Amino acid sequence: MNEDNSDHMAQIIDGKALATRIREKMKDRIPQLEAQYGRRPSLYVILVGEDPGSRIYVRNKINAATSVGMDARLIHFDDDVSESDLLNLIHVLNEDPLVDGILVQLPLPAHMNEERVVDAIAKDKDVDGFHALNVGALWQGTHGITPCTPKGIIQLIMSTGIPIAGKIAVVVGRSNIVGKPVAKLLLDENATVIITHTRTPDLKAMTTQADILVVAVGKERLITADMIKPGAVVIDVGITRNADGKLVGDVDFEAARKVAGYITPVPGGVGPLTIAMLLKNTMECFLNHAETHSRVSKLWTTIINARIGSK
Ligand code: GUN
Repeated sequence: MNEDNSDHMAQIIDGKALATRIREKMKDRIPQLEAQYGRRPSLYVILVGEDPGSRIYVRNKINAATSVGMDARLIHFDDDVSESDLLNLIHVLNEDPLVDGILVQLPLPAHMNEERVVDAIAKDKDVDGFHALNVGALWQGTHGITPCTPKGIIQLIMSTGIPIAGKIAVVVGRSNIVGKPVAKLLLDENATVIITHTRTPDLKAMTTQADILVVAVGKERLITADMIKPGAVVIDVGITRNADGKLVGDVDFEAARKVAGYITPVPGGVGPLTIAMLLKNTMECFLNHAETHSRVSKLWTTIINARIGSK
């Protein structure tokens, strides 16, 4: 550790490069799977309304899925669509054997109940991992779909080669999408986990203990260099546009680089991994569906043969 050296600079964890490697592997595998199962993984993304941020996110997701060879479709509703029309569409996609993944981009308009909409998605097609049964599976440690950003954060930390087991991990933020699930994944990797939030009285007293610091709040410069333990792995999940129109994270990056051991940039850190993990989740759903389908087909063959044989 060279924290006493004023020239010290943390290694940057290049999320874009890591995501590209994951996507390239998938791109190579999809033609083989298509030859084996007769179809490609498919992802249906539902967007309601015209929120400019959501439109960009959705476009990035569709483009990423298409670029690896998946069949990706966008279904775009006006923001006055009724919740029951949206639920009916989800029910039809749930029943369609050619659909592997369903994602409803959030936030939804105020007249809709997000929980009801998310929970209407079949749990084995819920590529976001937001369905109550997938959240339950995560916390119970049973098999389910893991949410994309937390899953990507673990991959980013692992890419440093620093073992997670035995480390103190501090999570700043307790959202359902990032803070809470990433805390559970870190616990599963045998870190000792501290979850902090807006009511934590002395945030710095917590963050300075962190061998691994994950910050997911959405507040520019919330984490300054003096709040970081020398040599720590710092994962910055925040992404906001500041007064100068620049995309920034929650960590004061330039100052933090002089203290941390490893740090993710914004943009180019967590964001690309979130999308790569969405593709991974879609792939897992596809493999699960394709395997189930081929097992059921074999059983039908057995049943039909038995009927022919008994005539
Ligand atoms: N809105 C912001 N982040 C996400 C996400 O990860 N998934 C969905 N569905 N909506 C979001």
